[in-house]
Amino acid sequence: MRKKIIAGNWKMNKNFEEGMALVSEVSNMVKDEYSGSAEVVFIPPFIHINAVGRMISDAKNLFVGAQNCSNHASGAYTGETSASMLKSCGVSYVIVGHSERRQYFNESNDWLAKKVDAVLANDLNPIYCCGETLEERESNQHFDVLKKQISEGLFHLDEAGMRKVVIAYEPVWAIGTGKTASTEQAQEIHAFIRNLISEKYNHETAQSITIQYGGSVKADNAAELFAAPDIDGALVGGAALQSRSFTDIIKAMK
Ligand code: PGA
Repeated sequence: MRKKIIAGNWKMNKNFEEGMALVSEVSNMVKDEYSGSAEVVFIPPFIHINAVGRMISDAKNLFVGAQNCSNHASGAYTGETSASMLKSCGVSYVIVGHSERRQYFNESNDWLAKKVDAVLANDLNPIYCCGETLEERESNQHFDVLKKQISEGLFHLDEAGMRKVVIAYEPVWAIGTGKTASTEQAQEIHAFIRNLISEKYNHETAQSITIQYGGSVKADNAAELFAAPDIDGALVGGAALQSRSFTDIIKAMK
């Protein structure tokens, strides 16, 4: 069975008090109301990671992640945070290549491949994001774009490395827009990505990899998305900022 993962990416939201309240509420709701098998990952801004890690250290299905990391191991890189620092603060997952990093910080596939390496070198799991813009979809380039993102960012890995990767398919046109990909659209892309992995590695590796969907996931569309055979969870933005909406999404994963 593939691992199911519901991750909440807070982006640059929540001050300390608000963040701790959210984690405490979600943790309690998960403990009291969730009997499913998904891993739940909080992905707060760096500055809250340590505190979140401490709050959830006793819960077996709760984890903390980071939104980014440096591709360097250490040194004179002002403002950066290394994967080994994240590891020492209890992080399990690191988002690499979110579309906002690609768009606003000009992160290229080659650059992201180095971040994937830094994450794996510290025995953490990258959540590698990919997804096409609206323009790319409308001009029918989405398969090519995704193939390039996946192959340039990940296909330098050996099979053992690849098996530690989580992939998040996040169509840029669905992020923060309230416009979710239909279950058919998402399933089509997830199956396409799994097939790319199967061609490059093998069937078993492709079957073992968790592929999350992201882009306006909400309580009322989560169950349908999760019922699709190749959708193994969600990377949630806006709806992860409220305890009830995030917990309702978690509960949609059996
Ligand atoms: P959204 O964000 O759920 O607010 O659309 C998803 C993401 O960017 O990971």
